[in-house]
Amino acid sequence: MTNLPLLFDNHGREMSYLRLAVTDRCNLRCTYCMPAEGIAYLPQKKLLSWEEMLRIVHVLNQLGIRKVRITGGEPFVRPGLMDFLQELAKIENLEICLTTNGVLLENHLDSLLNLGIKNVNLSLDSLDSERFFKITRRNDFDQVYRNLMRMIEANFIVKLNAVVMHGMNETDILPLVNFTEKHPVSVRFIEEMPFNGSGLVEEKLFWDYRRILSHIKTEFPHIEEVPMAYGETSKNYHVPGFMGDVGIIAAFSRTFCGSCNRIRVTSLGQVKTCLYDDGVFDLKEYLRLGVSDEDLKNTMIKIFGERPKDGFEAENNRKGVINESMTSIGG
Ligand code: GTP
Ligand code: 5AD
Ligand code: SF4
Repeated sequence: MTNLPLLFDNHGREMSYLRLAVTDRCNLRCTYCMPAEGIAYLPQKKLLSWEEMLRIVHVLNQLGIRKVRITGGEPFVRPGLMDFLQELAKIENLEICLTTNGVLLENHLDSLLNLGIKNVNLSLDSLDSERFFKITRRNDFDQVYRNLMRMIEANFIVKLNAVVMHGMNETDILPLVNFTEKHPVSVRFIEEMPFNGSGLVEEKLFWDYRRILSHIKTEFPHIEEVPMAYGETSKNYHVPGFMGDVGIIAAFSRTFCGSCNRIRVTSLGQVKTCLYDDGVFDLKEYLRLGVSDEDLKNTMIKIFGERPKDGFEAENNRKGVINESMTSIGG
């Protein structure tokens, strides 16, 4: 097996990072992601099976994928996740990362560490339990906060994801920055994107990355910029003397497409060459035709040979408006 990166897109970007959504279900109902009543979840057989996902990761690993981020929905609501991770952990040269809302982490932390899985991105949009409830429509703040503390104690590499919403949690920005004083985590503020399952899009984004940064600077004028790693989405900062970092993800402004190394596979088995496209290939149907690994590799090479240059082009190529929920994409 080769270790060389083999999958490049038509803009010369090396594709080395897979985001795999293992379920479309979630135990929270975040307003920026879905309507209060939730979305119509798909029956289990419409989702990729664990075996199919394992095969996809194996084949993509042979094509040079070095990092896989498991997302959802909420990955821990799908039974069998830990067994799947155990299989993934056997693949060489593959870093396994998770994005989770943290509600169900409690019983899995030791097993994750035993599998060598240390990178966890945790959604936490507020440090205030009432606002947490308003945003997520569920009463799980204490549980998530406890699990966050447990992860910090156990030396996980934790990034906190906070979507910044006008009129909802801007009062959380400064306390979240302050949280990095005594806690070695990265707090990332994310521009809100229109993937909320309603098809409703705000005319103009109020809390864009510039406004978030100037707001932080009102209280932390000496915040320093930290160099961005290749393929990273967050622009990072550090308050001198603080243990953790602060990041801003221009997810809606899309300032980082030039180094985008991400392949997305949704829980339905759609390949996305960009977060903003509407799914460019039905991998599930294709796998169920009985194709060989070689076919699968060649198909992926072809798909990524026709990739839009950025998220704006991908959005323009869509057949319809954005009306899907982030829970079916995986972020
Ligand atoms: P790492 O860099 O691996 O830590 O991942 P990440 O921070 O990109 O992943 P995470 O799942 O924590 O997502 C954080 C936010 O970034 C979410 O709002 C994602 O939707 C958004 N995001 C992740 N990748 C992309 C991308 O390629 N483009 C855009 N526009 N947003 C992205
Ligand atoms: N806009 C921006 N970020 C979002 N996320 C979910 N929905 C949205 C949205 N509409 C983020 C959450 C989660 C990550 C996978 O995606 O913060 O942590
Ligand atoms: Fe990649 Fe699309 Fe995100 Fe740009 S908007 S970074 S191309 S997924």
